[in-house]
Order: sequence, then structure tokens, then C-alpha cells
Amino acid sequence: MTSLDAVDRSRLPAHVGVIMDGNGRWAGQRGLPRNAGHEQGETALFDTVEGALALGLRWLTVYAFSTENWKRPPTEVAFLLNFNRDLLLRRAGELDEREVRVRFIGRRGRPVPRRLVRMIESTEARTARHRRLTLQVAFNYGGRTELVDAARAVAHDVADGALRPDRVDARAIQARLYTPGAPDVDLLVRTSGEQRLSNFLLWEAAYAELVFTDVLWPDFGREHLYAAVAEFQRRSRRFGTV
Ligand code: IPE
Ligand code: IPE
Ligand code: MG
Repeated sequence: MTSLDAVDRSRLPAHVGVIMDGNGRWAGQRGLPRNAGHEQGETALFDTVEGALALGLRWLTVYAFSTENWKRPPTEVAFLLNFNRDLLLRRAGELDEREVRVRFIGRRGRPVPRRLVRMIESTEARTARHRRLTLQVAFNYGGRTELVDAARAVAHDVADGALRPDRVDARAIQARLYTPGAPDVDLLVRTSGEQRLSNFLLWEAAYAELVFTDVLWPDFGREHLYAAVAEFQRRSRRFGTV
């Protein structure tokens, strides 16, 4: 078990992304329905948030539901929609108390139910003043969709004459992402042994250090976060230089 002492707190990643994967396999190994794995994932998420607070991380983005996850069986999709809403109902007070600013990134239109969007909006409003930790929940999120939405915003601004075509650069795109003010992702963690991005934070993680662990998401917790940050600190980052 990795303790807090394994981490140099003066060299923390500015932004950590987590692909919370393996809930279904966790449940399958126990002869339980997949949804039991999602339920257990809540404990893992909140232990990870506690770990982020203990470390002093400022930005944590977790992948909760992708634009591709609509392709799952309707019963699982329905479960995940209700589950995420209930989770907010249960946990918004705790996050507020812990001074966590909660934000959702992803498209909020159909087919995301209105009642979930209302819960998202109220949680964001309730926690908007906090700066200790920003917890971004990627829901109905896709990295390509985020870039499509940024491209549309650019196109509108160009059409309106607010932006000259020759002024479209990386900064102009960055400014039209879902969270323009967020720092780049320094560390990207994926659980469950899969080694792919699955359309997560494609722009933001362009130079992220990738850490893959075989731990299934429901078994993840603060010690695994500490271990991932310690691993990040052992990497040599060059950003194209020598
Ligand atoms: C991650 O666990 C949760 C979501 C994608 C919503 P999975 O449900 O993908 O679990 P596995 O990958 O099937 O084990
Ligand atoms: C990525 O996991 C999405 C989330 C964790 C929410 P998936 O389980 O959906 O990804 P694939 O299908 O294995 O690429
Ligand atoms: Mg999966």
C-alpha cells in the first residue's frame, strides 16, 4: 500500500484524469449483476476524492459515461442515468462541505434526462464558490464531441466576424473547450488493465503521463491514487525537448 509519504507534494500533477473502468468485470467475478459493480464504484470514487484532498490536488476529472456508452443495453443505460442522479442527491452536501467544486463536462441535451440535468445544475451552483478541488465529472462526454463543439463555436465566431480565420490557433480552440480554464492533464490513470483512451480528454491529455493499473475500479482507492502520482513523479517529461 502506497502512503501519502511516497508523494512529493511540491511536484503534484496540476490535473489528474481517471478512466474508471472495470465495474462490470468486478461484479462478474463475484457472480453479481453488472450494476452491482457500478454501485461499488461510488465508494471507490469518494475514497479517491478524499485522497485527492489529502494530497492537495486541484483538478480531478473522472470519466463516468461516454458518448459511446449509450450503446449498452437499455437497462444498464437507465441504471447509470438514475444512479448518477441519486449519487448527486446523496453526495452533493458532502462535496459542498469538503469544499469541492463540482462540474460536469459533456453534452446536456437529449437523450440526457431533464431531471439529471437539473440535479447537475443544482450541484454545480451549490459548489461553484469552492476552489480547494475541482471535480469534473465527464458525463455524456466524448473527446471528439468536445472538439466538434469547439469547432462549431469557432465557426460561429468566424461567421459573426468576432474571429478572423487566420487567428484560429491552439489558443482559440482551447478557449472553446468545455472548461477553458482547466490546466492540461498531467496524469491520466486507467483502471482494469485496458490500455486505451476510449475518447477521453483527447485535447487536454495531449502530453499526459499515462498510468495503467490492473486494479478494477470498485477496488480502487486513495492508496492507488497515491501510487499513480508517485509513478508520475518518477517519469521524465520532456515535452519534445532534449
Ligand atoms: C466502467 O466500468 C463504468 C462505465 C463505463 C460506466 P464498465 O461498466 O466499463 O466495466 P467493464 O469494463 O465492463 O468491466
Ligand atoms: C470508458 O470505459 C468510459 C468510462 C469509463 C465511462 P468503457 O468501458 O466504456 O470503454 P471501452 O468500451 O472498453 O473502450
Ligand atoms: Mg469498461
